[in-house]
Amino acid sequence: MTDHKNPETEADLTGATPRRRPKADVLEVGGRKLSPSTLMMGHAFDPMLSEGSLKPPIFLTSTFVFENAAAGKRHFEGVTGKRPGGADGLVYSRFNGPNQEILEDRLGIWDEAEDALVFSSGMSAIATLMLALVKPGDVIVHSAPLYAATETLIGRILGRFGVTFLDFPAGATEAEIEAVVAKAKAQGNVSLIYLESPANPTNALVDIEAVSRVRDRLLGESKPPIAIDNTFLGPLWQQPLRHGADLVVYSLTKYAGGHSDLVAGGVTGAKAWINPIRMMRNTIGTICDPNTAWMLLRSLETLELRMSRAGENAEKVCAFFRDHPKVESVGYLGFLQDGTRQADIYKRHCTGAGSTFSLYLKGGERESFAFLDSLKIAKLAVSLGGTETLASCPAAMTHLSVPDQRKQELGITDNLVRISIGVENADDLIADFDQALKAV
Ligand SMILES: Cc1ncc(COP(=O)(O)O)c(C=O)c1O
Repeated sequence: MTDHKNPETEADLTGATPRRRPKADVLEVGGRKLSPSTLMMGHAFDPMLSEGSLKPPIFLTSTFVFENAAAGKRHFEGVTGKRPGGADGLVYSRFNGPNQEILEDRLGIWDEAEDALVFSSGMSAIATLMLALVKPGDVIVHSAPLYAATETLIGRILGRFGVTFLDFPAGATEAEIEAVVAKAKAQGNVSLIYLESPANPTNALVDIEAVSRVRDRLLGESKPPIAIDNTFLGPLWQQPLRHGADLVVYSLTKYAGGHSDLVAGGVTGAKAWINPIRMMRNTIGTICDPNTAWMLLRSLETLELRMSRAGENAEKVCAFFRDHPKVESVGYLGFLQDGTRQADIYKRHCTGAGSTFSLYLKGGERESFAFLDSLKIAKLAVSLGGTETLASCPAAMTHLSVPDQRKQELGITDNLVRISIGVENADDLIADFDQALKAV
């Protein structure tokens, strides 16, 4: 996204020698706008700038040599925020690097975002976003539940710096959301509305359009950004910027990375909101490393293939679970009842049901553990979105730190097993789940 890769902005006001830059990208052919899957193979990288290497090399360097002193000054004006939009050249690997910038360009394509940033983890993306946008005395309004570490960050860590929060349940109606935002407005300056949809681990969807309308009605003057964690369905099956969100957050560790072999995060959105987050990232150094960025570039090439196959598998597996006598219910977005509010949100916001769902077994922790301990193909591990199927018990694992009463309110019960379906053969997976249920 930074100008140093854009030949059109090569004009150099300082007279410094411009770096060699890639040719303009091909974004359409014969009037046809290219789809993200096509663009993932080459967008934002010119092999001729790297000895003809088809794939980008990994740039393992801590710092970059300036063409001359004037260029160094100009680049630092971008890094320090004197000029918005980031540095227009490479400076120092805590600020930027070729692998990270190519990745940011490609990540932004999926969300049709103006700009994007990548981070060392999903949590460092969320923390950097919040540190950039929230100050002492402010109020954060958020949907619930949130990923447990995000709740900890808002409630316990930002709380230490005088930030308060109010939340509404993920499936809340527009009127219910409005009541919470009105209360928050009376409490202080609402500087961020933070959503997670589908929520981890319940899969409850948030009505982004309703939140956006409420924000405009009640907070039209200050217009705080709406940020949303899109880890469960994005970037393939949900594009929140189209529905009124300003910033989209990812744990790239999950579907985007997709092979359970890296940890990274991302934020996409409008330049106006990305700029302060980049400034914060430059200061605290939460950018992802070049090697991880390179691995993510490879992962994005197969994103649509992997997610589509996982989605098809999940549909078959959930159909098997649905009628099983040992299963109480299946929290799968493909099973939402027509006429319900959740189904309405799904139809407006999502183009696929994903491959991560909640399986509620008849019984409690004993039954969940017996099921998990009997699995032979699916691995007993937290995380999701990888090529392999994973299963875990959120109440006893990822959400163990959430107080019991809140867990009950949010539907994070002991009999809930969260499953993330991978790209294996669906019938093999069903055979595995069948034998594990027999062992319960
Ligand atoms: C919805 C959601 N958001 C954020 C995170 C945090 O991501 P990371 O583990 O990459 O820091 C997770 C991790 O499980 C998650 O599920």
